[in-house]
Amino acid sequence: METTVKISPTVIVIFGAGGDLTWRKLMPAIYNLYLDNWIPEHFAVLGVAHTEISDPAFRKHINEGVDKFSRRGKTKKDEWKVFEKCISYKKGDFSDISTYKTVKKEIDNLEKTWGVPVNRIFYMAVPPAFFEDIATKIGESGLSANKERSRIVVEKPFGRDLESAKHLNNLLHGLFDETQIYRIDHYLGKETVQNILAFRFANAMFEPIWNRNYIDHVQITVSEQLGVELRGNYYETAGALRDMIQNHLLQLMCLIAMEAPVSFDADEVRNKKVDVLNALRKFKPEDVHKNAVRGQYSEGWIEGKKVIGYRQEPDVNEASNVETFAAIKFYIDNWRWQGVPFYMRTGKRMNETISVITIQFRPVPHHSFPIETTENWQPNRLILNIQPYMGIRLRFQAKQPGLKMLLNPVDMLFNYSDAYSGGTPEAYETLLLDIFEGDATLFMRSDQVEAAWEILMPVLDAWKANTSPNFPNYDAGTQGPEDAEALIARDGHNWIVIPLENNTHGPAK
Ligand code: BG6
Repeated sequence: METTVKISPTVIVIFGAGGDLTWRKLMPAIYNLYLDNWIPEHFAVLGVAHTEISDPAFRKHINEGVDKFSRRGKTKKDEWKVFEKCISYKKGDFSDISTYKTVKKEIDNLEKTWGVPVNRIFYMAVPPAFFEDIATKIGESGLSANKERSRIVVEKPFGRDLESAKHLNNLLHGLFDETQIYRIDHYLGKETVQNILAFRFANAMFEPIWNRNYIDHVQITVSEQLGVELRGNYYETAGALRDMIQNHLLQLMCLIAMEAPVSFDADEVRNKKVDVLNALRKFKPEDVHKNAVRGQYSEGWIEGKKVIGYRQEPDVNEASNVETFAAIKFYIDNWRWQGVPFYMRTGKRMNETISVITIQFRPVPHHSFPIETTENWQPNRLILNIQPYMGIRLRFQAKQPGLKMLLNPVDMLFNYSDAYSGGTPEAYETLLLDIFEGDATLFMRSDQVEAAWEILMPVLDAWKANTSPNFPNYDAGTQGPEDAEALIARDGHNWIVIPLENNTHGPAK
């Protein structure tokens, strides 16, 4: 792909350059931006971490990561040779101000050599325990003094509750302007997630029915077959509510529920999203158990392979009370959504890996057809497939061909793979490009993060105060705990599961 617009001369400093995020996500994304011709002539990646490693060894390590994780597969030798020249490495202690002075000197030198003003991106690809120290030292060393040209990127988790999120926001605001801070939620960079905005606001036909008069309820499911892998240490301090619902799932809900922005200005879009969070009905402590369900997986089978339970995973307490599954029912108390339940669930070691949003419409007001013709009758349903299948499916009733009037549901499908050729950028490509260009639309503003924590605090508090008596309560490889079925069944609904093979063409089942 040839692009004409290039980003400004930039140095990206990655703190935590030896870590997994840099290896699996950031560098493959930067390399793909390079291949797509977005990277300018004057560009440098400066990796900073604790270990001693030479520039050539660091480049080799990064090359292996790109070969393994780039969506384009293995790098071509000649292309890599040109690209790798922009990568260098500095050993440094994050708590030592001299590390930052060295970085500053390095960037100043590049600026002098290139003879152009340089944008500075500071990416904290480190565990949250380092955020404060690194951010403070970036500020103190004068690295971020030019507010127009310097940005700081904060990975999730942003705090572990409302208080710690506020603390981190205060600290960052003491050092940077809000416009310099890019809080990452990688779901917002996913192609299908961005398409929710396009679907809703670039088409006129759905808007008139996108409200409580026509929509019965909304379901958001993000399920994973993966367990906690080697992240037991982190996960023991997090759990599904903090890890997924506070950020990814609430953001998906905002995109479904928000009002139309007047423009695509970053603050305008984020204002409309934060309105949704502010309108969420607050849980009273005594109501938490009616609206929120938690689960933890025990051993089980995933695709024919036996897997261990959460409490047996490395670095996990054998009596852990941490949830690996969470389901919640929300109401949005505003004009558009009053009375429409939004159900969300997420879990690890579930039966399938799928992220899907289902908009269930209300039934027709009157059944004109004889009852025997409508055995398979279903209300209309719109399914937004986020991943791994990417597309949109609209389910409606049709007359089954034949001499008699028989109705059954059929699907209209939009599949990315049919409609578009060429690769789909990874979320981190989109997000990094936005950071380079200074577009904060897809990033979390401080008030969004705090509003998301605020709404979950009663649930976090209740779950902390009462250990779950029945953990583990779902087998790996299943759809989660029975209580999650009950949460939605109480309202006369069930979790809508669309079989994977039914995500391509063919009649609805
Ligand atoms: C991360 C969570 O934010 O998102 C992980 O920390 C989770 O626990 C991951 O596995 C899921 O992301 P994706 O893009 O694979 O759906």
